[in-house]
Amino acid sequence: MANSKYEYVKSYEVEDEVFLPNLIVVRIDGRDFQRFSEVQEFEKPNDEVALNLMNSCAISVSEAFPDVVFSYGFSDEYSFVFKRTSKFYQRRASKVGTIIVSFFTSAYVTKWREFFPHKELMYPPSFHARVIRCASEEVLQSYLLWRQNNCHTNNLHNTCLWELIKSGMTESEALDLLKDSSKEEKNDLLYRKCDINYQKLHSMFRQGSCILKVEVFAVVKHNENGSPVKRLRRKSSIVHSKNIAERRFWNKHAHLQKELGCFTKDIGKVEPDYIRSFQHEDKLIPSTWVVIRIDGCHFHRFSEVHEFVKPNDEQAINLMNSCAVAVLKEFQDLVFSYGVSDEYSFVLKKDSQFYQRQASEMVSVIVSFFTSMYVMKWKDFFPQKELKYPPYFDGRAVCYPSYEILRDYLSWRQVDCHINNQYNTCFWELVKSGKRKSEAQLVLKGTQTGDKEKLLNQFGIEYNKLPVMFRHGSSAFWDKEDTTRIHENEECNGNSGKRVIVEHCNIIEPTFWDAHPTILSG
Ligand code: GTP
Ligand code: MG
Repeated sequence: MANSKYEYVKSYEVEDEVFLPNLIVVRIDGRDFQRFSEVQEFEKPNDEVALNLMNSCAISVSEAFPDVVFSYGFSDEYSFVFKRTSKFYQRRASKVGTIIVSFFTSAYVTKWREFFPHKELMYPPSFHARVIRCASEEVLQSYLLWRQNNCHTNNLHNTCLWELIKSGMTESEALDLLKDSSKEEKNDLLYRKCDINYQKLHSMFRQGSCILKVEVFAVVKHNENGSPVKRLRRKSSIVHSKNIAERRFWNKHAHLQKELGCFTKDIGKVEPDYIRSFQHEDKLIPSTWVVIRIDGCHFHRFSEVHEFVKPNDEQAINLMNSCAVAVLKEFQDLVFSYGVSDEYSFVLKKDSQFYQRQASEMVSVIVSFFTSMYVMKWKDFFPQKELKYPPYFDGRAVCYPSYEILRDYLSWRQVDCHINNQYNTCFWELVKSGKRKSEAQLVLKGTQTGDKEKLLNQFGIEYNKLPVMFRHGSSAFWDKEDTTRIHENEECNGNSGKRVIVEHCNIIEPTFWDAHPTILSG
């Protein structure tokens, strides 16, 4: 397709490949799950059903993405380990991390009813994600030991805390009592004061959960004579183990050795330098315009399966817009957003300190929150259509150093919207008129805008009369000045007359920006 003069902005997107031989680990963890678990009234300190839901989502991740060969989780976090030779999305960190967190979130919201049939999901849960690079099996071993130590420590602490509160202490009194207490003291406290033998508590609470892939012979079909045909298949199963970083545990699983390597010695403690690398922060350059662009994964298939109207499904676009409005309201540093098809770009204010400008945090929470909203709102926009499988999105953050380049970025996306929409409108008209898809492609090959307009005229369509939302895409932003106008698709946030509105304007021309001088200036 034609290139526009704005395409140069692509050069601001940076490479973030995780190079071999580094192993890729994606860790996700709940965003403000303390509040979420209170609102949803999870049992303290461990809600077995909520943990089963986490495990079930992790199994879905492991089955949807065969490169994930081992997973470990507890509480509201999960780590996914990719096989050594993985080429998943060319090992691009941002893609890999956001796809996993988006899919996990989507599964979490989709499966909620199955696990909590009598509890309404009160608001969209979301997760952070970060990609951890482990330079060797030994570093991976340390990473796993670090996470499982964390599980042990937190669980012992929380078990004591809630037992003390149950016995009548206030939270701060209980915290005071536990401060600086050793593991032995905590075990002792539980045993003597609460009649609890810590070692007898559910192993899922104490040890966390692993997801392993085991090879099983599964029946895939039946022969004509009725005899079953079996094939070797990988099945995910949940295992609880006291020490997942131990040689004895790791080396007995042939597929872990094959895909990740074996552990050569047992380790007692985690190198502090390794922990520093696991916690590395990927900060974006200060005082630049950060754009977070999310894009639906395999939405070609998703739109087919859900029978979206071609080339534009008004309800599907309205759903995307409604999610973008929710994102703007949730993350107040976002000042403008522009969406078309299955993508949305979110612009942060220039001096934003959102998550201290850590790229993976910023991108993952926005992708995750958007995904959560998409699944939760699905029924509002498609009351007659069942969501057949969890949709998911990828995301990236890009810094643009000046206002002009940011504007060029937005123009690039709107030109793309125009080019794609005109092409797709012609394509589907040709198909409707009886042409095969390959014939329609041939007719359109090498045509310019004018040719396409003429072609549409032959079908009785004047391109400029098509709905403006399809031609211009959608811009969602905070409207600060004129609150008296009635806007289509507007939603109020209930404070000070400020609201997020959705318009379908030309954002390439300066007119729009002149009319809304405060959007990008704060
Ligand atoms: P990846 O993003 O690489 O995973 O591929 P993708 O399949 O999502 O394709 P891409 O993002 O390049 O393009 C979005 C695709 O979503 C379009 O090509 C359409 O197939 C589909 N799509 C988006 N919006 C609509 C819509 O309103 N109606 C229909 N029918 N399809 C849509
Ligand atoms: Mg897509």
